[in-house]
Amino acid sequence: MALEGLSESTDRPRRPSRNADLHSPLRYPGGKRQLVPFFVDLLKLNGQSPLPLFVEPFAGGAAVSLHLLAAGLVDAVVLADLDPLVYAFWHQACFYTEQLVQDIAAADVTLEEWHRLRANPGRTLREKAYACLFLNRTSYSGILQGRAGPIGGQKQQSAYKIDCRFYKDEIIHRLRQIGKLASDGRVAAVRPTSVDKTVEWVETEFKSSERLYYFDPPFWEKGERLYRKAFGRAQHESLAKLLTAMDAPWVLSYDHHEEIVELYRASVQGDSLAASTSASSPQLHKTDLLYCNRHKGRGATELIITNLAQLPSEHVSTA
Ligand SMILES: C[S@@+](CC[C@H](N)C(=O)[O-])C[C@H]1O[C@@H](n2cnc3c(N)ncnc32)[C@H](O)[C@@H]1O
Repeated sequence: MALEGLSESTDRPRRPSRNADLHSPLRYPGGKRQLVPFFVDLLKLNGQSPLPLFVEPFAGGAAVSLHLLAAGLVDAVVLADLDPLVYAFWHQACFYTEQLVQDIAAADVTLEEWHRLRANPGRTLREKAYACLFLNRTSYSGILQGRAGPIGGQKQQSAYKIDCRFYKDEIIHRLRQIGKLASDGRVAAVRPTSVDKTVEWVETEFKSSERLYYFDPPFWEKGERLYRKAFGRAQHESLAKLLTAMDAPWVLSYDHHEEIVELYRASVQGDSLAASTSASSPQLHKTDLLYCNRHKGRGATELIITNLAQLPSEHVSTA
């Protein structure tokens, strides 16, 4: 078949838009909203809109999945993330939307609440989902962990205070859009699993569905500063082995580093990753990305690796 940056230095508020599109309620570090035009053209190029199933095993803010779903370019998505807070968020947003809406509507967006949730995000899925969304929208660059503090600082002396990105109406609007898609059966599953288990499960459950996987793993560089679940070298290597052994179509995006190029080139050449049994060998491409600090104009080059034969040439060049 055809389809077989961060370092935001100021947390400046931006007006939320309310167009027909669906933006993620999460301000996710490394969110791939900017790859949406690439995926739209990719699906069109391969005569695959709508595509029956789009799978994001590293969901994070799921920017690409949400757009493709809302635009009707894919019929359904599977979202998975190993971070229990991120998983809980998607589970509640999709299947218990009104509980999360109630919790956001009632949220006390203060430094005290931020400290309470950082110290203890809770035990139940409902509590964790709320903690995830609250901390994501009130912490520097949307980072849920580590040294990332509250927007406006611990003394709240900045012009931008802790609540400056907590647009309750807009967040609730987005949550309800997600809930509607899920209640229409467009979210096939939300999984708390690691990438290998997600792939194994999807390949069993959806083996007869036409599907495309989009893998967006933690960054090669600085991943451990941004995510509660990050990758070491061994995990990047395991992912390369997993992907190069897959027959189902996939697209992988990475921050551009020579080590990753070498890792996947090796698999293409069939040496250190000779486990590949894939019918189509991965190809390496790159594209320009501008991460969310758009106002600073800092660009980044994103590496796109895929086992698809055709990519929209206007978006990528050979790596
Ligand atoms: C680069 S982010 C994904 C960003 C997403 N594409 C977006 O647009 O917002 C990577 C995500 O992978 C998750 N993650 C880390 N290790 C994982 C693993 N072994 N399996 C599944 N998810 C994992 C992290 O929790 C993080 O949410």
